[in-house]
Amino acid sequence: MIIMSVESSCDETAVALVRDGREILTDCISSQVDLHKLYGGVVPEIASRKHIEAIYGLADQALAQAGLTRKDIDAVAVTYAPGLIGAVLVGVNFAKAASLALGVPLIPVHHIRGHIAANYLAYPELEPPFLCLVVSGGHTMLVDVKGYTQMEILGGTLDDAAGECFDKVARVLDMPYPGGASLDKRAQQGTEGRYPMPRAKAGANPLDMSFSGLKTAAINLIHNAKQKGESLVVEDLCADFSAAVSDTLVPRAMMALEQTGYKKLAVAGGVAANSRIRRDILAEAEKRGVSVYMPPLKLCGDNGAMIGAQGYYEYLAGNLGDMSLNAYATKSILGETL
Ligand code: KG4
Ligand code: ZN
Repeated sequence: MIIMSVESSCDETAVALVRDGREILTDCISSQVDLHKLYGGVVPEIASRKHIEAIYGLADQALAQAGLTRKDIDAVAVTYAPGLIGAVLVGVNFAKAASLALGVPLIPVHHIRGHIAANYLAYPELEPPFLCLVVSGGHTMLVDVKGYTQMEILGGTLDDAAGECFDKVARVLDMPYPGGASLDKRAQQGTEGRYPMPRAKAGANPLDMSFSGLKTAAINLIHNAKQKGESLVVEDLCADFSAAVSDTLVPRAMMALEQTGYKKLAVAGGVAANSRIRRDILAEAEKRGVSVYMPPLKLCGDNGAMIGAQGYYEYLAGNLGDMSLNAYATKSILGETL
């Protein structure tokens, strides 16, 4: 079954063709990052406009690259939540039109379920159940993936997402948007220990997390140094900051593995590209005999193929949409409107 999948929830327009949820035939992405960089963050109206400009051409490009025609498309999958509402609407309306015109099913896909499914593309042998650490720009949580479409949230951030925290600190350090990857690069050249950072405990659930205190501590340190005219060893600060994020995430992921008894840990979302987090996860998992699944960097960030992968399993579960499908700025991974 060939699914055309569409992703437009933030600042990447993406159209992919995926076979049976596992094989990427083509994955076309048009990034708007350079445009939003000028403003230090995503400007929602600009994002929506650029999605409209890019999406039709990308769909044609995807078909041409795969050597396929519209007749080969068996279904259309689309991110319908969560994201910037105007941006998500562009993808949803395009997908509705394509589904209607082609006479094929329409499959609504939750963006974060898509991130988890990026692992199915990278690891053909991976099947639920497994634990997934989701770390993106807007979400940070530990998900018990019981089945392809049955999930339970075991814990998560009570305030900021890990990616948001990376981006804010990077911005105060004058790194270009989105700063996570730049901060990671600088951290790799630094040495830990010069700038100790807090590791917060959050609430009664030991699997919950908090990042806002860490973010504030790092930003205060930078502002203080600026006000006093002191120079900072940015590489060392980035290293200490990344260590604190990883120390918040990785031990909780290990705790969740113990709780569930799973021996499979997947990682998903843009922050899963972080070198420190990847290293710590591999080291801790190895000690426990746990298999680790981490998508290659290009499948960690937003892409269309991950929506096609999850879309296939939503289709098999009968989770189809129709012409009344709406877009949602917020919606839980379990499908509840927040
Ligand atoms: O999953 P994603 O592409 O978009 C959302 O669904 O949010 O995640 C984007 C986030 C941004 O915050 C970006 O700075 C962060 O992922 N990111 C990283 C790295 N690469 C991307 N954060 C830390 N280290 C990285 N190497
Ligand atoms: Zn994402």
